[in-house]
Amino acid sequence: MEDINNYISTNKDRFINELIDLLKIPSISADPAYSKDVLAAAKAVKKSLDDAGCENTEICGTKGYPVVYGDKIIDPNLPTVLVYGHYDVQPPDPMDLWTSPPFEPVIKKTELHPDGAIFARGACDDKGQFFMHVKAVEYMIKNNTLPCNVKFMIEGEEEVGSDSLEDFLKENSEKFKNDIILISDTGMIANDTPSITTGLRGLSYVEVEVTGANRDLHSGIYGGAAPNPINVLAKMIAELHDEDNHITIPGFYDKVQVIPDDERAEMAKAPFNLEAYKKSLDIDDVHGEKGYTTTERFGIRPTLDVNGIWGGYMGEGAKTVIASKAYAKISMRLVPDQDWHEITGLFTKHFKSLAPKSVKVKVTPHHGGQAYVTPIESDGYQAASKAMETTFGKTPVPQRTGGSIPIVALFENVFDSKTILLGFGLDSDAIHSPNEHFGVWNFLKGIETIPYFYKYYTEMKA
Ligand code: BES
Ligand code: MN
Ligand code: MN
Repeated sequence: MEDINNYISTNKDRFINELIDLLKIPSISADPAYSKDVLAAAKAVKKSLDDAGCENTEICGTKGYPVVYGDKIIDPNLPTVLVYGHYDVQPPDPMDLWTSPPFEPVIKKTELHPDGAIFARGACDDKGQFFMHVKAVEYMIKNNTLPCNVKFMIEGEEEVGSDSLEDFLKENSEKFKNDIILISDTGMIANDTPSITTGLRGLSYVEVEVTGANRDLHSGIYGGAAPNPINVLAKMIAELHDEDNHITIPGFYDKVQVIPDDERAEMAKAPFNLEAYKKSLDIDDVHGEKGYTTTERFGIRPTLDVNGIWGGYMGEGAKTVIASKAYAKISMRLVPDQDWHEITGLFTKHFKSLAPKSVKVKVTPHHGGQAYVTPIESDGYQAASKAMETTFGKTPVPQRTGGSIPIVALFENVFDSKTILLGFGLDSDAIHSPNEHFGVWNFLKGIETIPYFYKYYTEMKA
């Protein structure tokens, strides 16, 4: 049997080149102009599963973009690992901030990635990360060392909320049935500090529209007498937090799971350097809810953030005008046991109540999802921890992240299986931002680590 490290050193150039080919496809799910490319990416993923030695590969239609399936069932009596990932990517804008074009991948060295990192949209989120699984499974199939069954579910709508996936999963629950779900779509603390993500936040995303007069007005003739929806919107938004940065929506915190002090103390042991954090963001101070540390603010507490705000005159120079309409996009990150539908309702009711009679308010919900926490006592977590310990020489730190993968909570409902979030990216890899990248070392480390997960998990289940 060929050892994984040998296999990687013999094949790593091919692995990287295959990933680069996949990264060249601009599979932007948010923009209909790229729908052909999203479908082309699905095809390329199917081919990569075929090449890896998977069977029953298929591009499965959904109401939206397809899900790519492939499996290798060696014995129905053995456990089945379901690998989830997504082949769609975020829009690359603002384009002018990229130092090389987002869909022309290049390898460049950085301070944190001295061996080089692949720069491209999707390099880390999530093409580079799910592709580690394809290559790890290729290794196990080619060397006859796959110890259990594996199924792949690589979707194309994660970045726009996985809208079609709930119905698809329920209709195809038998096909995707599994004992454990393995996902690499999160990060770790640092290359010398491995960690496993134990919590994801939920999400409620809404858009608001405030309307004043029936048309834009001269700001001298009408200013001071007619409602200014931009002024009103700014005030309404300001009222959503109090002076301690608590969210003021009535009932918002009612279901928030309170973390006991001993558990908070345990979480506080995870390495985190506030000075380095501030420095990396070029800020003189952090900002957040009173009574909580920075890691708690993104890990265990819900938040409300304006993601975009616009209206009125935004062109060159000055125009004296009072706009008829003002808009904002607002996201709320949620924690167990907040329900995103309920929170969307509470927001809508409260936001409308903040409006003076002089304006009309419309709230349009976008997508959302529930939070998820994985128990560290589970076989899956223990197998992942042992796998990382084997390849990093250090026990990984459990850590909750602030991001969301809405499908994970749904997996638990449909399959009653736990999800293991084994990510190899770094926060500084700039996912969703210009110059997204993924360390070559991280990519190869992932490929090296994943087969150990299968080995330990199967041994624990035997
Ligand atoms: N992979 C990310 C989520 C993530 C990244 C979690 C890093 C933890 C650490 C995923 O692709 C993502 O961007 N999710 C969206 C939610 C979605 C509904 C648009 C998010 O978190 O904003
Ligand atoms: Mn992702
Ligand atoms: Mn993403």
